[in-house]
Amino acid sequence: MRFTLLTVFPEMLGLLADQGVVGRAARDGLIDLDAVDLRDFAVDRHGSVDDRPYGGGAGMVLRPEPLLAAIDEARRRHQLSAERPPRTIALTPSGERLTQQAVSGLAQESGLILLCGRYEGFDQRVLDAAVDQEVSIGDYVLSGGELPALVLVDAVARLLPGVLGNSASPVQESHLDARLDFPQYTRPENHVSGMVPKVLLSGDHAAIDRWRRGQALLATYRNRPDLLTSAPLGEEDRELLKSLLENLLGSSNS
Ligand code: 6GU
Repeated sequence: MRFTLLTVFPEMLGLLADQGVVGRAARDGLIDLDAVDLRDFAVDRHGSVDDRPYGGGAGMVLRPEPLLAAIDEARRRHQLSAERPPRTIALTPSGERLTQQAVSGLAQESGLILLCGRYEGFDQRVLDAAVDQEVSIGDYVLSGGELPALVLVDAVARLLPGVLGNSASPVQESHLDARLDFPQYTRPENHVSGMVPKVLLSGDHAAIDRWRRGQALLATYRNRPDLLTSAPLGEEDRELLKSLLENLLGSSNS
């Protein structure tokens, strides 16, 4: 799968491309990661890609000419390698929120063109004429779309066949069943920071599974109670969480 970032900071790609599982996937040819530098399509010899907003107001807006020329260049690159046209996504805080479900959908595409906004954003005509979808990674404002684009690439790339070395399905970790992960421990068994919970050393896999499920429920209850409302628990999980909470209350009251 090919990912092309359109950005005024192409060097930010190195953050993903030079290390980790995504970097290895790129070196192994499982994914293609590249960038088009918007300044290569600047409207003057000073490298301008932005201008003041019509109607007034603070900040600058990315002009349509460099953006559309860069999209054309990115599409040309994708045409050389892929059978289907790439999906064109603009990263902007006004976009639809990125979720694991959306990420799984994007992993089915043959390529993604990712427009990284800067300043006050894109001239609307580019969004109307050449962008399939606007995406945000959360309810906070960043100074540009590059980090969100890298977040999106990381999340999609790790779902592609062969990218995570092991055979464990990458999808079934956190979030798909609306539950956070259970806590993990490794050696040493005893350390000044604490001891590994005994059940994990017991070899009793049914007990381990139950403990992990309970801990995942507790973590979700504490950190993301919203997930428990949007995807209500089954009876068994509800009882498990209830008894864990009662135990915790009991031990803190005594
Ligand atoms: Cl995609 N862009 C910017 N600038 N800020 C964001 C974002 C995107 N998603 C969350 N915050």
